[in-house]
Amino acid sequence: MSLKKKIAPLSNKVSEIGKFLQNQSSLKTLRFITCGSVDDGKSTLIGRMLYEAQLIFDDQIISLENDSKKSGTQGADIDFALLVDGLAAEREQGITIDVAYRYFATDKRKFIVADTPGHEQYTRNMITGASTADAAIILVDARNGLMTQTKRHSYLCSLMGIKNIILAINKMDLIAYKKNDYLKIVEEYKSFVSDFNFKQVIPLPISALKGDNIVEISNKMKWYDGKTLISLLENISISKKKTNEQLRLPIQWVNRLDSEFRGFSGTIVSGKLKKGDLVSVLPNGNKAKILEVIVSGKSVPSAQVNQAVTFTLDKEIDISRGNMLVPIDQPCEISNQFQVKLVWMSDTKGLLGRSHLIKIGHQTAGAQITNIKHKINVNTFEKLPGNTLELNDICLAEINLDKSIIFENYNTNRALGSFILIDRVTNQTLAVGMINFSLRRSQNIYNQKLDVNKKSRQILNGHKSKVIWLTGLSGSGKSTIANALETRLHEQGKRTYILDGDNIRHGLSKDLGFTDSDRVENIRRIGEVAKLMVDAGIIVLTAFISPFRAERDLARSLLNEDEFKEVFIDVPLKIAEERDPKGLYKKAREGKIKNFTGIDSDYEKPLLPDYTFKTDKLTVKQIVEELLIKEFKD
Ligand code: ADX
Repeated sequence: MSLKKKIAPLSNKVSEIGKFLQNQSSLKTLRFITCGSVDDGKSTLIGRMLYEAQLIFDDQIISLENDSKKSGTQGADIDFALLVDGLAAEREQGITIDVAYRYFATDKRKFIVADTPGHEQYTRNMITGASTADAAIILVDARNGLMTQTKRHSYLCSLMGIKNIILAINKMDLIAYKKNDYLKIVEEYKSFVSDFNFKQVIPLPISALKGDNIVEISNKMKWYDGKTLISLLENISISKKKTNEQLRLPIQWVNRLDSEFRGFSGTIVSGKLKKGDLVSVLPNGNKAKILEVIVSGKSVPSAQVNQAVTFTLDKEIDISRGNMLVPIDQPCEISNQFQVKLVWMSDTKGLLGRSHLIKIGHQTAGAQITNIKHKINVNTFEKLPGNTLELNDICLAEINLDKSIIFENYNTNRALGSFILIDRVTNQTLAVGMINFSLRRSQNIYNQKLDVNKKSRQILNGHKSKVIWLTGLSGSGKSTIANALETRLHEQGKRTYILDGDNIRHGLSKDLGFTDSDRVENIRRIGEVAKLMVDAGIIVLTAFISPFRAERDLARSLLNEDEFKEVFIDVPLKIAEERDPKGLYKKAREGKIKNFTGIDSDYEKPLLPDYTFKTDKLTVKQIVEELLIKEFKD
């Protein structure tokens, strides 16, 4: 029988026991994470702790012993890594769980340990684990000392607000339990984290494999006069105030059972909700009194943090999903601009100005990184300049949202101060972030209501306004087509305007070049200008390479569906290069122009354009006729 099959029942038992432990309220729970480089011995350590806590049952121990013998572990040592990795392999067959939570207990305390993979690309899992942890065990292989991963993970622990660090120098058996080597690593680590805001760093020499200083004090290291790992974990103080105590209840849905009942449901993020509380609903600030608090279908006097509740109010006020219930005298802030710390977690480059989705609690908005103040080199803490973000980059940045959200600074409230950025197209998580503070309170900014509007301007002009967005390689024919189309529309008495790459780059975008970030910003500006012009009642023809899908989609998202038409001017690179109207391809080939689209800079073809015209097959006249017929009949 394979190891995995033998371990399967254990996995069930562990999760059953986990549930049991969670329900057993007499013992406090310490949540911690283990981190370190690959091969520092995390799996062995976690296996060892589960084993020592008697959560492995006799039959599994026998099979583990047999498997360990087979896998070459010497003598009576059990290869605990086999146990944990076995569970991991099994887990991976289901839906991916980024972080494996394991439960164990001693007679003093319950523990939940987040086991996070140690590879560099798994920063995201580590952050997920760290976001709820009270403590971290940083594992270091005694033979190797501090590695990039050790530093990175320690830094992330500090970013995520973990206060208690156990620095476990592992594999002491492999350096003959030498005190001096141990002390050297401890010293180096302490000086490395001196500015990290940790409450305590407790060093400890161990061998997870041999069991030294895990549950029992090792007799191999008489020079060590501290506690065992388990005893340290049992005694670390658990902060009761993980989040602040003020009521924060994001509204998930409005609950209308019948015409009589109007309740509101959500999960309490912090604080308590009691009958009779005076509350206010953000962002509009309406006030009311709590009539009833309902948990699991029963009316209760109060509910607390992490409970899913439904409540009713003494009067009808406007509440909808994404609103936040707070005490009258302790509201939280609302803003749409923040200084944040960001950890970039995707292979897709992070570019200034690109539009993403931000998720913070139940709130979603559009968000852009507007400024990268600096990136941080996790080895030296040097502040590095940078305009783009790569996998695992950590930076201080400013972000801009397209609407205001309710938030708190991460230091005050982890749940309302942390967020993720999501790619609009792939839905992939791009980054996690922590809010340092709001850059501007936007409560006082209102959209100016004007009496003359788009509709009235269109009526005056006698036609609808829209954008014909031409995209394609340099030399594909965008400007020629825009020019011919405008001439025809102008003859028909229509109000038109061409926004053309070469012209705009002499004025509005004269500060921009051709790096990816500059192109993102260029197209963002054009999208905004086009939107204003459509509002002004004008037919806008744009002729920009606009090489990236994300920014073309962003421009589209600013307008109504029938107001934006994406027209792909499709021509093979070879033909555009033969045409080379401005001689730029030649220069690019000679290396005289950098980042030239099609040569050393990407062009992302539209996936679902409204029109595709092949200019090596069709004449300009044919293309213009088709657009006139399909788009400008009125
Ligand atoms: S975009 O990528 O930001 O949309 P845009 O359409 O404004 O580019 O500008 C493209 C025009 O700039 C080209 O038609 C060409 O004349 C000129 N140009 C100069 N350098 C480059 C370059 N490196 N890549 C592409 N176009 C360039």
